[in-house]
Amino acid sequence: MVVKRLSASPSPVSMWPTRSALPGSNDASAISVMDRSDPPSSTQWLVNPQLDVASCVPEEGTGAYDQLHRYGVGPLQQKRIPREYFKMPAEDRDARIWELRRELGDRLTILGHHYQREEVIQFADFQGDSYGLSLRAATQTSAEYTLFCGVHFMAESADILGGENQHVILPNLEAGCSMADMAKPEDVEAAWKTLQGLGIEGIIPITYMNSAATLKAFCGRNGGIVCTSSNAPRVYDWAFERGERVFFFPDEHLGRNTAVRKDIPLDQMVVWDPFQPLGGNTAEELRNARVILWKGYCSVHARFSVEQIEKARADYPDVQVVVHPECRMEVVQAADMDGSTEFIIDVIRAAPAGTTWAVGTEINLVRRLQMQMPDKHIFCLDPIICPCSTMYRIHPAYMLWTLEHLVRGEIVNEITVDPIIAGEARIALDRMLSVP
Ligand code: 13P
Ligand code: SF4
Repeated sequence: MVVKRLSASPSPVSMWPTRSALPGSNDASAISVMDRSDPPSSTQWLVNPQLDVASCVPEEGTGAYDQLHRYGVGPLQQKRIPREYFKMPAEDRDARIWELRRELGDRLTILGHHYQREEVIQFADFQGDSYGLSLRAATQTSAEYTLFCGVHFMAESADILGGENQHVILPNLEAGCSMADMAKPEDVEAAWKTLQGLGIEGIIPITYMNSAATLKAFCGRNGGIVCTSSNAPRVYDWAFERGERVFFFPDEHLGRNTAVRKDIPLDQMVVWDPFQPLGGNTAEELRNARVILWKGYCSVHARFSVEQIEKARADYPDVQVVVHPECRMEVVQAADMDGSTEFIIDVIRAAPAGTTWAVGTEINLVRRLQMQMPDKHIFCLDPIICPCSTMYRIHPAYMLWTLEHLVRGEIVNEITVDPIIAGEARIALDRMLSVP
């Protein structure tokens, strides 16, 4: 997991907040003030004075909205829920969720991704990264209902991997993933046909877990596989044992970072831009490529920069920098370590008291680490402190709304994948789960 560390250029002025000055750091009350009485939307949290410092919309900051508009991607349709759910005092709402949770007993499992906010994650029976959550969905097949506090592609995977009589529920259907939306199945199919048309053989498609079930199905029927940020290098091994090249989507950066780790030279990688003929490459370049990377990215992780790492090193010479592999290659290379959300948690947890950590991932996870380990100095690399705005759409109000329906025997917001798509996607997911 350790990668090359670049030398930090010293900075004369220290602008990094100290642990106590960092908004919300080590302070549970700072997290709970985010509990709002109004329904959250993609912009509404900007008006919360507690989040002034976080006044950014990740997708806007990185231009992802433009990209998504070009794809014609809109949010998934969430039915409006009564405003009373948001006006309810947080304590009453939480108490009611616990009550319903107890009433449903073993019939319900609540899964939560590490990026979920504290007010949501407190209810999770199991908290994990994408890999851990998919494993849990595949093995925990007894509960009738899975309330999935994460984003749409994760709930789809839980539906594919879960038992026949299990129902997967996404509390807010607008909780998608902007990166997953950057690879439209028809565009990937068209690219695949173009590559086949050029007579390029031995291509193994790999889709990152952050993708639609249809893309997982595409991999299932074309000899491909799914990967997550925790197993991508081993999945590359799997692919190169079976073919000569990899077609990786939708995250250009995870694909490139993994290829670098596998010692594939940069001049053997090309980027496929779905808006360009031949993805913006010549036929010759495509024939010579060992890795074809889809032009997609995570709007949260694209914000991290080498300058931020240099600043952290200048301000805290003993800092250790750990970032998610969805960050750009130069950021991953400038960091000390990179890995999945679970890796980031494990590595900081295992570190001795008194150590300093700059973390390049989503803010809810960084804040949780700060709260859980007050004996360490942990801060987010990005001073603007960006949350994942799609993960943020899961709110306790939606949890309560879905649970109230469940106790009445009504299922709302169920995520069901078409059986043919699910069957093909399962092949690619099972391949991933079988990778040692
Ligand atoms: P992990 O699999 O590391 O939890 O990452 C999921 C994700 O969406 C990161 O942006
Ligand atoms: Fe998608 Fe990025 Fe949010 Fe992860 S952090 S769910 S990749 S938008």
